[in-house]
Amino acid sequence: MDDLYREYILEHYKSPHNKGDIAHPDRFAAYANPFCGDRLQMGVRLEGDRVVEVRFNGTGCAISQASASMLTDEIQGKTLAELAEITKEDIFEMLGIPLSPARQKCALLAWEVLRKGILRLDEDTAEESDLA
Ligand code: FES
Repeated sequence: MDDLYREYILEHYKSPHNKGDIAHPDRFAAYANPFCGDRLQMGVRLEGDRVVEVRFNGTGCAISQASASMLTDEIQGKTLAELAEITKEDIFEMLGIPLSPARQKCALLAWEVLRKGILRLDEDTAEESDLA
């Protein structure tokens, strides 16, 4: 079963969805994984409080890039309130494989950008943030 998910992760890594930049995003944020320094940025365009376009960019391992690709697919078309309901566990479930604590940081990189940068929620991992 894990093999299936690994394949799925590699597909997203090799051909990421929503990768690139938005010229004039309504909200934009970047965050670096404190453990490896890899940096990921995300921009969204809003109509009212609904995301009509989302793009991410940056470098990182397969897990971080695949997670950003999958998460941005989820973000598209949702309201900011709906996005605030996405939990860490949802991200782990989306990836579908067991992750070590270090790999969990990779998996949550895009989610951190979403939570703290795009949604401007400030919570448990604030001390590790490196928002730009
Ligand atoms: Fe840097 Fe995974 S090793 S994000």
